This record gives sequence, C-alpha cells and structure tokens, in this order.
Amino acid sequence: MNKLETTFCGIKFKNPFILPSGIIAEIPEHIKAEKAGAGGITLKSITVEKRGGHPYPRIIKFPGGFLNSVGLRNPGIKNAKQQIKEFLTKAKVPIIVSLFATKISDFQKIVSEIFPLKPAFIELNLSCPNVDDEFGKPLGMGVDASFEAVKKAKKNSFNIPLIAKLTPNVANIAEVAKACEKAEADAISAINTLGPGMVIDIKKKRPVLGNKKGGVSGPAIKPIAVRCVYEIYEAVKIPIIGMGGITTWEDAVEIMMAGASLVGIGSAVYLRGYRVFEEIKKEVEVFLRKEGYYNVSELIGLAH
Ligand code: DHB
Repeated sequence: MNKLETTFCGIKFKNPFILPSGIIAEIPEHIKAEKAGAGGITLKSITVEKRGGHPYPRIIKFPGGFLNSVGLRNPGIKNAKQQIKEFLTKAKVPIIVSLFATKISDFQKIVSEIFPLKPAFIELNLSCPNVDDEFGKPLGMGVDASFEAVKKAKKNSFNIPLIAKLTPNVANIAEVAKACEKAEADAISAINTLGPGMVIDIKKKRPVLGNKKGGVSGPAIKPIAVRCVYEIYEAVKIPIIGMGGITTWEDAVEIMMAGASLVGIGSAVYLRGYRVFEEIKKEVEVFLRKEGYYNVSELIGLAH
C-alpha cells in the first residue's frame, strides 16, 4: 500500500491532504486542487438562496495570515445542483459538499436536495463567522443548536457520511463535538476561521475589508487549530479533519499527531501556490520513511 493512502469514514483517499471549503469560489474551478494532487476537495459552502456576498475587498493579507469576508457568495442550491452534478462526474477524488444554513430546518431541506447527487460526503458549515449581522451567531456556537442541526440533517443524508464543521470561537469545542457525535455526525471538521478579526488602514482611518471584519486564517491560528483537534480527539470517537493554518509538512504531521485523520490545506494555497499539495506529500513521505512508519495513518493521535 502507498504510504499516504488512507481511509476516512470507510472512503479511500490517495493522500490525507484535502482542500477545505472556501479557497476556490467557483464550482468548476475546484478541479485545480485535484490536478495539484489534493487527496480530496471540499466545495465552497452552498446556501438555500443565492448570495452575492459582501462588499470588496473580501480577502486581505496580514503578517500572520488572511482575513476573509466573502459573505458566503454562492449561486444558491437550485443553481448549484447542476454544477455540482457535473463536477462530481469529472472529479476522481472524494468530494465534500459544504452546506450553510441559518435555520435548522433549512439544513434538512438543503441536505435533501444534495442527497440525490451522492457526493462522497456532506459537510455542515455550522460556523461561518461573517454573517452574524444578518443571521445572528453561528449554530456551531451552541451545543444544543449543533445537536439539532446534525440530527435534522442526518434524517435526510442517509448513508452519505455527514461532517460537522466547528468554530473555534467557543469556550469548549469538545462539548460541541460531543453533541455532534451524539446526533450521529460521522466526522468533525475543525477549525473554521477564527474571530472575526479586523485590520485598519491607518492612512484612511478605516477598516480595510469591505465588510470591516472577517474570519482569520493562516499560520497565526495554527496553535489554536492544533489545540482544538487535540481536545476533540480526546472527547469523541468519530474521525477528525484538522485544519487551520497548516502551511508546511511539519504542520501537517503536527495536526495529525493531535488527532486529525485528514488535513485541510487552505490558506497555504495562497501563500505557496497549488504546488503545496505535491510538496507536502513528498516531504511527509520522506518523514514517514526516515522515521520508520509504514503508513501516514499511524501518526493519528500520537501526541496523546
Ligand atoms: C466565509 C465563510 C466561512 O465559513 C468562513 O470561515 C469564512 C468566510 C464567508 O463566505 O464569508
């Protein structure tokens, strides 16, 4: 067996390094990540209604990473369905369809629309930090709301593994993960962007982002991601997709040792280009060989 090959919720991945949601905006464009060697791909979150997104600029760089406030721009479930269908026929790696809703009943509705397309996974984005003004706090900030969202979605996702994507902006992320597991989530994805944060242009004396504040990603949040994954791993039995500032092969090994079975590489695509997938794959393989590991999955949870 290939040293990087792994299984997650019973589904085979050629390598554990996947594209998280939101790095690529348009559905057909996501194929770039497969061509670059990603083991799996998460599509940008889809909502029930079409959304135009927040004012520009939506993504800005700061010394520790990025702030983004895209505002869940997407074509809405009706328009997205055909595009997702076409994408699924093209893609050769497992695809995770990410869904966002602000009402629990909408999660159930949108999952039932996606189920017939039979993606490998459905991810519930319980944690976008950028739409508070419109909808209130993300569902993932509440233990009970997370439980209900997963439970309702599960009614319509049947045999498609359901992933709950959690926010780090809570006092106890392990409690939220436990609630999702109790509601029969098949996996946890952690972490979504932190914050929101703000950057001010001191000449213009105004926030730089069009929406003033945005979710924080990139190297600055990696220690928080590692801690969250570590705590979730101790609290639940379901597998974890770890992400948040993973930029180097050492970061990837670190978050797997914290407890991640798959690793999301997102902001690093902006920092290092798409070749980051091939580079991290090669480097992790060298590490495994040098250290005498037979397969990458042996790293999962070693720090406990
Ligand atoms: C957006 C959504 C997210 O889930 C996130 O973490 C950051 C940004 C957005 O579309 O604004």
